[in-house]
Amino acid sequence: MPKDWYEWHDLYNTEPKLQQRLEIVREYIAYSLNESPAGAIRIVSVCAGDGRDLLGTLENHPRTKDVYARLVELNSNLVERGRVTIEYLGLANQIEFINGDATIAANYIGAVPADIVIVCGVFGNLADEAELRRLLENLSFLSKQGTFIIWTRGHSNGIPYSESVRKVLHESGFEEVNFKLTSTGDMGVGIHRYRNENSPAPKEQQLFVFSGIPINAR
Ligand SMILES: C[S@@+](CC[C@H](N)C(=O)[O-])C[C@H]1O[C@@H](n2cnc3c(N)ncnc32)[C@H](O)[C@@H]1O
Repeated sequence: MPKDWYEWHDLYNTEPKLQQRLEIVREYIAYSLNESPAGAIRIVSVCAGDGRDLLGTLENHPRTKDVYARLVELNSNLVERGRVTIEYLGLANQIEFINGDATIAANYIGAVPADIVIVCGVFGNLADEAELRRLLENLSFLSKQGTFIIWTRGHSNGIPYSESVRKVLHESGFEEVNFKLTSTGDMGVGIHRYRNENSPAPKEQQLFVFSGIPINAR
């Protein structure tokens, strides 16, 4: 069992569920880049981990030169690893990796509204459905009409939590572009489009509360 979020990332080396999830997330990021109109593409990643989903996609994508991204992550070791990858890819002028609290609106100022918002490994770490609805409401600060939202939600104890997420997204006015379950059958990965208007100022300074712990990560 991982003792912290840095160790949790080691599970990518052994867990088919996480490996398949990463593959689908990268597929959706590549799709969103392909669909983006000519010109700059702004991306934010909320609770970015070491950024392997975005950075692994940008390693070999024709639109990489158009990307301006901000990744926000609390664990300094993960941020350090991400920054090493950014240097290696020669993307230091385009990608900022902030070691900070992704739940705080101030950490996105200057990087939003984004064209692509990555919220992977987040929805399963919220207290309940009300907190998910609050986070989706607060995406109005990070997003604008047409923004792609890429998300994941694991299942546990036979409960298909990703189905509840899809229902809440539908009720909150998001349009589903694609949804896949990993072939392990217990991890949902979705891509939706934001259909509401951007809020130039955040509705709340704290956008959500991340209450999960790595030992129970979903
Ligand atoms: C389940 S992991 C997902 C990481 C990455 N998005 C992925 O899918 O590989 C959750 C991440 O959220 C980070 N995290 C937890 N609370 C946070 C906060 N308040 N601000 C920023 N990052 C946070 C953890 O350190 C961890 O890297």
